[in-house]
Amino acid sequence: MYKLAPSILAADFSKLGEEVMTIEKAGADYIHIDIMDGAFVPSISIGMPIMKSIRDKTKCIFDAHLMINEPIRYVQDVYEAGADIITVHAESCNHLDRTIKRIKELGAKVGVALNPATPLNVLDYVLDELDMVVIMSVNPGFGGQKFIPYTLEKTKQLREIIDKKKLSIEIEVDGGITLENVAQVMEAGADVFVAGSAIFTGDILENTVAFKEVLSHV
Ligand code: DX5
Ligand code: ZN
Repeated sequence: MYKLAPSILAADFSKLGEEVMTIEKAGADYIHIDIMDGAFVPSISIGMPIMKSIRDKTKCIFDAHLMINEPIRYVQDVYEAGADIITVHAESCNHLDRTIKRIKELGAKVGVALNPATPLNVLDYVLDELDMVVIMSVNPGFGGQKFIPYTLEKTKQLREIIDKKKLSIEIEVDGGITLENVAQVMEAGADVFVAGSAIFTGDILENTVAFKEVLSHV
């Protein structure tokens, strides 16, 4: 079953609680929460207080995407703020194995994200430990960027690896997904689709329903 993960980065933060309830009602599966530190990525977004403030507004799974250097420093706080899945970037961890283990010890699901130019083989020795791999289809740091086409091939290759090893790992694709290109990302083998600006620009309810409709065609 394909899952939709609206990214609240593109939400209107003055009415975040309401918007989160709207996307849940329209069928969102995960709430994708982009946490940026202004160092690993150029911009700064939101953090634990905002996560906590919406935790009781929805039963959706909180999918926290940490775009911060040495995220191991914050995984406990992010977990306590309500994250169900904690994703770190392979490029931002001095000790990826240790970071993965720390997240699992907390009781959260663990994801690893790869920037567009990072090869899949950085995951060779840790893949079995993961619940999710996030293929970045834009360079992380901002919403509203254009989808990078070569990441489709990367998604296909990861799908093959996961299927061959019979692992139950979700592939999430993040960045630049629209109603126009989502079918291609489905064909490439993704399970979870992040969409920020395509959900939160215009009618949020209609946009979410439209994505769910496409994702329901297997
Ligand atoms: C990029 C973020 C994405 C982004 C998605 O740094 O990780 O989650 O907000 O937004 P859109 O769909 O607008 O590319
Ligand atoms: Zn993200």
